[in-house]
Amino acid sequence: MTRRTLIAGNWKMNTRRDSAAALAKGVVDGLSDSTDVEVVLCPPSVYLAAVEECVVGTHVALGGQNLCAEGDGAFTGEVNAAMLTDIGCGYVILGHSERRQLFGETDADVSKKLHAALAGNLIPIVCVGETQQQRETGETEQVVREQVKGSLAGLDEARAAGIVIAYEPVWAIGTGLTATPEQAEAVHAFIRKLLAEDFGEDVAGQIRLQYGGSVKPANAKELLGQENIDGALVGGASLKAEDFLQIIAAA
Ligand code: PGA
Repeated sequence: MTRRTLIAGNWKMNTRRDSAAALAKGVVDGLSDSTDVEVVLCPPSVYLAAVEECVVGTHVALGGQNLCAEGDGAFTGEVNAAMLTDIGCGYVILGHSERRQLFGETDADVSKKLHAALAGNLIPIVCVGETQQQRETGETEQVVREQVKGSLAGLDEARAAGIVIAYEPVWAIGTGLTATPEQAEAVHAFIRKLLAEDFGEDVAGQIRLQYGGSVKPANAKELLGQENIDGALVGGASLKAEDFLQIIAAA
C-alpha cells in the first residue's frame, strides 16, 4: 500500500500578514519541482487569503486550523467549511489538542466538524493524543481508542480512506520532547489496527497517519522512516521556511 507522504505546517496563532506571505513564499520557492511529498500550510484564518496568493498554482496546498460545523448564519466569530474551500483550502486540522484542552472541544464536536469538512470537500486532519499523565498511568491506548472512535463516529468506509489522522502526544507538543520513533510507531500501528476494526484492512491501509509533536529537521527522517508514519504535522519548526523545507526533504 503506498500512501503519499503529507507534511503540514500548523502556524497556530503566529505570523502577521507580511511574515505569513514571506514564509509561504519561502516554502514555495525552496520546494523542488520533483518532490512527491504533499505539502500543506495552515495559517491563521485571517491570513488565508494572503497565503493563498503565494501558493496558488504551486505544489503547496492550503489548510484551515479549525472550522465551525454549521452552515452560513448567525454564528458570530466562526468560519465554516464553505468559507475555507472558497478561499482555496483543501485541508482542515480538526480536534487539535489545543482546541480540546483550551476550548473544550469534545470528540462529538470533532465528529460533527469531520462530517462538515467532508461535505465541504475538505480533507480533515483529525488530531488525537494522550497527555503526559495518561501515558504515565498506562492509558495511552485507551485514550487514543476513545478519541479515534469518537472523532470518527458516523464515518462510512467510502469516505474514511480520504481522511488523515495526526497522532500528537500532548506532552510532545511545543515542549521539545519528541516521542521516540519506536513510541510513535507503536501508537500509529495501534491506530491503524483500530481503523481496520471499523473500516477493514484495505481502507485502514489507505488512511494517512501523521506524527506531530516537536518534529524538527534533526528527528524528521527517523520518525518518517517508520512503517506506519505517513507524514508530519509540524508546529514550531513550520514557522521557519528553512526548517520546514528540511523536514520535507527528509520525507
Ligand atoms: P510542535 O506542534 O511541532 O510545535 O510541537 C505540533 C502541533 O501542535 O501540531
